[in-house]
Amino acid sequence: MAIIHFKSLPSTNHYIRKHHAALNHFDVITCDKQTAGRGRHTNTWYADRDSLVFSMVLKDVPQKKAADLLPFYAAHVIHATLQTYGIGLTIKWPNDIYTDDKKIAGILLKRFFVKDNVNVIIGVGININNTVFPKSIRDTATSLFLKTGHTLDSHELLTTITDYFKSHYQAFFDYPEETIDYVNNHSYLNNQTISFLHNKRKLYGKCLKTDVSGCLLVQTDKGIMTINSVDAHTVRIKKPGSIK
Ligand code: BTN
Repeated sequence: MAIIHFKSLPSTNHYIRKHHAALNHFDVITCDKQTAGRGRHTNTWYADRDSLVFSMVLKDVPQKKAADLLPFYAAHVIHATLQTYGIGLTIKWPNDIYTDDKKIAGILLKRFFVKDNVNVIIGVGININNTVFPKSIRDTATSLFLKTGHTLDSHELLTTITDYFKSHYQAFFDYPEETIDYVNNHSYLNNQTISFLHNKRKLYGKCLKTDVSGCLLVQTDKGIMTINSVDAHTVRIKKPGSIK
């Protein structure tokens, strides 16, 4: 595995998509400045020089069923690593890392085929030493520095995360249900009343858990809904008294 560093890139995910043929399984692309970072759905991803942004390429990913759970494995690895800094963290389905009610890290997976082989790009953005955020995300984003008061070494964190990812990768494919258990045990949404957009309709319900296929089970007044992360987004905890 190589960690390849650039001063500036539009997007580490896009770099891998463009140059995948020259890269090996587990190679990582990172940069100091990402100028056109993408988030899930149609979102952009804000990062400055105090953030860590990187993407890893996985080649010839086996077992389609477990491969569908890779977003949860990525969240499992990032959560377990960041927890070592002693702050309380949760995983917001499908794969955001939260502390209190604010986002500290986001993950974006992209799949592509090379002949019949499934390859995956795992893009990760972590707010490490950030002290300020743009107005649009000031109330919803935080950083490891703001939570711990310590300036952290982003290269050291990157190495710890990628080593952890690699060393548990095979175990994840052997026992993917352990990752789902981990995600449920550290869930931000379980047992909360949530709102979410589902095929453009705003729905409400009580979040029950993430099932073995990675779907969220939500108890609504019409029964239990099984929602996937393509059809559902803007998932929020409904605050007491809030009508939104
Ligand atoms: C999200 O929470 O919406 C996912 C954010 C993923 C951001 C990372 S930063 C590195 C990689 N390159 C991108 O353009 N996006 C991902």
